[in-house]
Amino acid sequence: MTREREGTREVVRRIQTSFEDVFGTADGTVVVRAPGRVNLIGDHTDYNDGLVLPMTIDRAAYVSARARNDDEIALYSLHFNDEVRYPLHERPPADAGSWVSYVSGAIEELRLRGYLTGGVEILIDGDLPLGAGLSSSAALEVAVVHALDVLFGMELDAVEAARLCQTVEHRYAGVECGIMDQFVSRLGRAGSALLLDCRSLEYEHVPFDPAAAGLALVVADSRVTRGLATSKYGERRGECLRALGILRDAFPGVESLRDVTPDLLASRRSVMDARIHDRVRHVLEENARVLHAADALRTSAFNRFGELMNQSHASLRDRFDVSCAELDTLVHAAQRTDGVLGARMTGGGFGGCTVNLVRATAVNALKSALSTAYRQAHGRSPRVYVLSRNYETKILSGRPRPGEEAAAR
Ligand code: GLA
Repeated sequence: MTREREGTREVVRRIQTSFEDVFGTADGTVVVRAPGRVNLIGDHTDYNDGLVLPMTIDRAAYVSARARNDDEIALYSLHFNDEVRYPLHERPPADAGSWVSYVSGAIEELRLRGYLTGGVEILIDGDLPLGAGLSSSAALEVAVVHALDVLFGMELDAVEAARLCQTVEHRYAGVECGIMDQFVSRLGRAGSALLLDCRSLEYEHVPFDPAAAGLALVVADSRVTRGLATSKYGERRGECLRALGILRDAFPGVESLRDVTPDLLASRRSVMDARIHDRVRHVLEENARVLHAADALRTSAFNRFGELMNQSHASLRDRFDVSCAELDTLVHAAQRTDGVLGARMTGGGFGGCTVNLVRATAVNALKSALSTAYRQAHGRSPRVYVLSRNYETKILSGRPRPGEEAAAR
């Protein structure tokens, strides 16, 4: 992260000044913001056709884009101070998972679908920590696609846009992720969490304003960046597929782990090794927890919500085996702190962040408990963010689409 929090107007002004520096003028640009996310509950369920309850955060990817009248693509990342130019019909050299792979991948998918036929200039900025498990890549994909959508009047359906961004992750970054991150970045709403059924893609904005309830959402970044995460993520996906195969042998109607009931799982217990059985159990119980958690939000039953977060962490640690010592240290320190309602790892795991629901009066106690415990166990401090609001994907400057205001929140 390169700077302290700025107001939206300052961010837009700074991006436009940078755009002028790189591309001459900022005339004819649109500026779009797409937020990162924290998942409140429901991890490793999305790619099993399950349920998730993520929420956008107040950190985001920002994109300023302008059409060219030739077919050149010109990309500039402020974070990396890096510029790439290439003709629309070619692919630039890009390592999987590099900023160029996400941006040029999004451009390529729009071109392949016939939405993009000419060149563009794109400048990228953002204040999401990269590789910290807050979906900086999903935010970048969503911001680029939305900026080009607005610029060229593509009128992409928002769900289609989220799926396109997921495809970018699969094809150009080599990560076989589920739909959660791109979906919530594109369709999440300020003041709400998003309950998503990853099979039907039906969703509900569940109002959630922690501050109004005297609470705060606190994110603690372990600063353990991905590393093993991608390969282990693929390994877990593989285990879920293996389990599905075993269950299908006996029950051909089972299409995904979403169709598996506890009784059905129990009936196949003897032909599954304990590890695979545990993976499925996590998915089934986590789906149930998501529904209970959404109910708890609807009825302001925040203590209950916190308990479900704690249970989710235990299951991700013990049954799905995607936590790590650093995440466990942060979660345990939080759970021992007075005023903390619940704490869990969030996202893919093997590093990244924890999310904590805490009474507003206990935020400082939590911060110091996290720092002390982390220092003692791992010799350094976590990065701690208190979410003050949550953003939605938005046009900040340039032409709004009907029904969408270009405004600074
Ligand atoms: C990563 C993936 C998501 C999801 C989570 C785990 O964030 O990108 O699709 O699978 O891990 O819930």
